[in-house]
Amino acid sequence: MAFEHRNLIDLREYSAEDIALILDTAERFRAINERRIKKVPVLKGYTVVNMFNEPSTRTRSSFEIAEKRLSCDTLNFGGTSTSTVKGESLDDTVATLASYKIDLIVVRDAHAGAPYKVAQKSGVSVIDAGDGKHQHPTQALLDLFSLRQAKGRIDGLHVGIVGDIGHSRVCGSLCPALKTMGARVTLIAPQTLLPADPATLGADAVTSDLDAALPELDAVYLLRIQQERLEGAPFPSLREYSMLYGMNRDRERLMKPDAILCHPGPLNRGVEIDAYLADHPERSVILDQVYAGVLVRMAALYLMLGGSEDGFAA
Ligand code: CP
Repeated sequence: MAFEHRNLIDLREYSAEDIALILDTAERFRAINERRIKKVPVLKGYTVVNMFNEPSTRTRSSFEIAEKRLSCDTLNFGGTSTSTVKGESLDDTVATLASYKIDLIVVRDAHAGAPYKVAQKSGVSVIDAGDGKHQHPTQALLDLFSLRQAKGRIDGLHVGIVGDIGHSRVCGSLCPALKTMGARVTLIAPQTLLPADPATLGADAVTSDLDAALPELDAVYLLRIQQERLEGAPFPSLREYSMLYGMNRDRERLMKPDAILCHPGPLNRGVEIDAYLADHPERSVILDQVYAGVLVRMAALYLMLGGSEDGFAA
């Protein structure tokens, strides 16, 4: 099947077949990542710019590793080390980068919609690495990959997404992508952390009662409380939130015996999850998600840039 997307900005534009192709390609890259020499020449000669205008640990580092393992040339750029601090606009910054005859820009930005603007101005492919409260498509892809790996399927799974849904770009991509792949989704949050119209996310159910929902779930996906995006929203104290929604040893007893715990990171240990569950060898797939980030980002870059098969199995 051919991959025909120029950009990866909004996963709602991707079919189940498109998503399955990315996950299957990521699976092919797993074999490469488990060899001693983890590098293949499939994107040799391509130039990728990583423009991170907002902090990141996982997304930035895994994109850089993915690009190196695909043999791309990369430029790491963004934030306060650029001439934006002297007043240069995003448009002029992007036009400057595009003049270097680059092939793809990975964009993280605090402003929702910035990746569209970058795609329009640059004329090259863009991958959204998280924009404001809007989308985080490669996070959703790595989550799907991890769920499929842990549970053997996505279709028919019941996934509960718990926490700060109203401010979450992760949920903005993950909820619709889970629905595209045939999962059942329940959103679980206090009323004040839900979007004004939760139905727009396409979930099957919405509840504020985590303890009632837990026994039904195959996977519990915890979101970080995004204090940087609360913008004065009425919010219980972190202690109260943790009492009502934090996953801990007591709540683990309400989970199905084989249910798993996912989290996109960064973790607020002691708020949405305690250390016992964050590091639980059977329940937690958090570090598997981090590793899947390299695999799905290799797959997305490879498919979007039309990489060569030569050397794939070398
Ligand atoms: N999950 C995620 O986007 O983490 P970073 O902010 O560390 O990239």
